[in-house]
Amino acid sequence: MPDLVPLIKVALFERFGERLEIDADLAGIDEIARISTHRVHRRYLAREISPQLMRLLCACALSAPSKSDLQQADIVVVRDKSKIEAIADLLPEMPWLRETAVFLVFLANGRRLSKICQMRDKPFPNDHLDLLFNATVDAAIVMTTFLRAAEAVGLGCCPISVIRDHAAVVSELLALPDKVIPVAGMCLGWPAEEGRISPRLSLGTTVHEDRFADDNLDAAINAYDHRRAAIRPYRGQREPQRFGQSDFYGWSEDKARQYAVPLRTDFGAFVRSKNFRLD
Ligand SMILES: Cc1cc2nc3c(=O)[nH]c(=O)nc-3n(C[C@H](O)[C@H](O)[C@H](O)COP(=O)(O)O)c2cc1C
Repeated sequence: MPDLVPLIKVALFERFGERLEIDADLAGIDEIARISTHRVHRRYLAREISPQLMRLLCACALSAPSKSDLQQADIVVVRDKSKIEAIADLLPEMPWLRETAVFLVFLANGRRLSKICQMRDKPFPNDHLDLLFNATVDAAIVMTTFLRAAEAVGLGCCPISVIRDHAAVVSELLALPDKVIPVAGMCLGWPAEEGRISPRLSLGTTVHEDRFADDNLDAAINAYDHRRAAIRPYRGQREPQRFGQSDFYGWSEDKARQYAVPLRTDFGAFVRSKNFRLD
């Protein structure tokens, strides 16, 4: 195996702007290398993924830990091209949906548990926000574990939360019943390009020692904006007609513009319509 330590160090320096000390004798260094060099993939080769491999990846994903062993996450594997096309038609700004070999939808399933209580003739006094929260967290962990397994075999992934902009349509298309909602979709395929590391906020910003602290947030964000712009500058500015052209356009300007418009304001209504309680 090639010496993975330099690879990991370079990736993490690009990601966080920090030179980490790494013990070359660490067990599982190959897994650390894959995790640290992660990048999203949005271009795929026209190559199938076998049903056996999909089954293996789903089995790995669903081997993830589950809150109280409640097992409240499900996966829909969408292979039907007409269904993938129908979802792609909803999201013309994301042409990678047209290249995906299969499309996955990770579900929060609060239905099974309430049915089990019925089956076993028990009351179900836990129909409140925590049901949704637990199922959503499980679904996110299953999605992440799927991504880890898929990247281990050389596949590329792109989670797609924008399906929630069309939650009711996607729900109808996939026949999702009450108390089952899509948390995120995922494009999956054999990568057509290498992809690039996406720099993150410094570890000093997001890793807290013993207590939460964000006293130097402004300085940390400004520093991150400049570090990131030097490696991966934005190709264009969001909504210049509304916000003008910034001389310096960094991550925080982009995210502030993105969240200066209402997004998915009907999602709560959708979740309530699926009979989840939000209180
Ligand atoms: C929950 C979740 C939802 C996402 N939704 C989308 C999406 O709808 N469309 C998209 O192109 N990328 C989506 N992404 C991919 C992110 O944009 C990507 O992970 C981020 O830019 C960081 O890049 P990296 O994964 O290469 O580090 C999503 C990622 C996550 C974790």
